[in-house]
Amino acid sequence: MQNFTFHNPTRILFGAGRIADLPRELPAGARVLITYGGGSVVKTGTLDEVKTTLKDFAVVEFGGIEPNPTYETLMQAVELARREKIDFLLAVGGGSVIDGTKFIAAAIPFEGDPWTILSERAPVRAAVPFGSVLTLPATGSEMNNGAVVTRRATQDKLAFANRLLFPVFSVLDPTKTYTLPARQVANGVVDAFVHIAEQYLTYPADAKVQDRFAEGLLLTLIEEGPKALKDPDNYEVRANLMWTATLALNGLIGAGVPQDWATHMLGHELTVLHGLDHAQTLAVVLPAMLQERRVEKREKLLQYAARVWGLTDGDEEARIDAAIARTRDFFESLGVPTRLSGYGIGADAVPALVAQLERHGMTALGERREIGLDVSRRVFELAT
Ligand code: NZQ
Ligand code: ZN
Repeated sequence: MQNFTFHNPTRILFGAGRIADLPRELPAGARVLITYGGGSVVKTGTLDEVKTTLKDFAVVEFGGIEPNPTYETLMQAVELARREKIDFLLAVGGGSVIDGTKFIAAAIPFEGDPWTILSERAPVRAAVPFGSVLTLPATGSEMNNGAVVTRRATQDKLAFANRLLFPVFSVLDPTKTYTLPARQVANGVVDAFVHIAEQYLTYPADAKVQDRFAEGLLLTLIEEGPKALKDPDNYEVRANLMWTATLALNGLIGAGVPQDWATHMLGHELTVLHGLDHAQTLAVVLPAMLQERRVEKREKLLQYAARVWGLTDGDEEARIDAAIARTRDFFESLGVPTRLSGYGIGADAVPALVAQLERHGMTALGERREIGLDVSRRVFELAT
C-alpha cells in the first residue's frame, strides 16, 4: 500500500426527513445563499421545504446553475453573494449544483480573476463554508473537495480540488431521488461505477480493504441499479444507491492505491465538444480504455473478472474479454449507449477531441502517466 493522508471532514445526515435538521447545522445568524439548478427542486418542492426549514435565517436564492456548471453563470452568483454579504452557501441539487457552489465558495473571497483557480491552478487560500442537500446520487461531490467547471466561451471543462472545499455537511435523503428521470438514474449508476473503476482497475497495490470495498460497491451498483429503474419508489434501493455513490468518491477506496482518471479526462472533452452527459461520456470511454490498456491492467482486470463478474474458468484473455463485455452490457442494459455512434458521433470527430486534450495538457494520463495523445486517439477510435 502506498503512503496516504486521509481527511474527510464532511458530516453526513442520511435518511428520510433529514432536511428538518438543517437549522442545527448552520452557524447561528448565518446569511445563507441557496444555490440550485434549472428548476427541478422548485417542481419537486424540495426548495420550498428547505426554505421553510430555514425561516429563521436570512436567505437569498440563486437558481439556474446548469448541468456541467459554467463559469459564466457561477460568476453571477459570486457577484450576488458579495453584494449580499453571504457567509454560508447551501447547494440544493445534483453534482453540478454542488460543484458550482464549490467554485462560488472559492471565488467569493478570491483576489484576482477566479478563472485562474482552474486555468492556472491558482492557490485557494480562503473559501466560504457550504453545505449541500443532494438530489442526485452520482458524483460524490457531496462528500469530496473536487469540482469541475466549464467555460463556455473557450470550450474548457476543468477540474480543481482544495482542502477548504469539503462540504461542512450534506443531507442525503433517498426520497428526494424518487423524481429523477430514468436517464439521470442510469447516469448516476454509470458515474459511480466508473469512479470505482478508476481507483480499482489499475495495478495491484496489496490494498486488501480498498479492493474489497471497491468490489462491494461495484456489486451493489450491479444489483441495485436496475432495481431503481424498475421500482423508482423503493426506499431501500434508493438508499443503497445513494450511499454507494457517495462512498465511491469520498477518498476512502482511493486511499493508498494508484488512481487512473484517464477515462474522465477524455470524457470531459466529449462533453465540451459534443454535449454528452458526463456519465454518457464515461460509458463510451471506459470499455475502450480497458480494451486499450488490457496489458497494463491485466492483473486487476483478472481480479475484477473473478470477483465482480464470477469469471474464473478458461483462458485468461477470454476472461478479460468477457469482463469488458459484461461492463459494456451493464451500461447498455441501463439504457446508456456505449459507442460514439450511439450519440451520432463518427470517427471524424477524433482529431478535434485529441487536440482538446493537448490544449489542456492532458498528455500523460493514467495510473502510470503513460497515456499520451496517441493512446488517447486509439481509445477514441476504439469507442466509435
Ligand atoms: O438542473 P435541475 O433542474 O435541478 O435538473 C437536474 C439536471 O437537469 C436533474 N435533477 C437533479 N436532481 C433531480 C433532477 N431531476 C429530477 N429530480 C431530482 N431529484 O438532473 C440533471 C442532471 O443534474 P447534474 O447535477 O448535472 O448531474 P450530476 O449529479 O450527474 O452532475 C454532473 C456534474 O458533476 C461533475 C460532472 O463533470 C458534471 O459537471 N462531476 C463532479 C465530480 C466531483 N465533484 O467529484 C466528479 C464527477 O466525476 C463529475 O466529473
Ligand atoms: Zn464522474
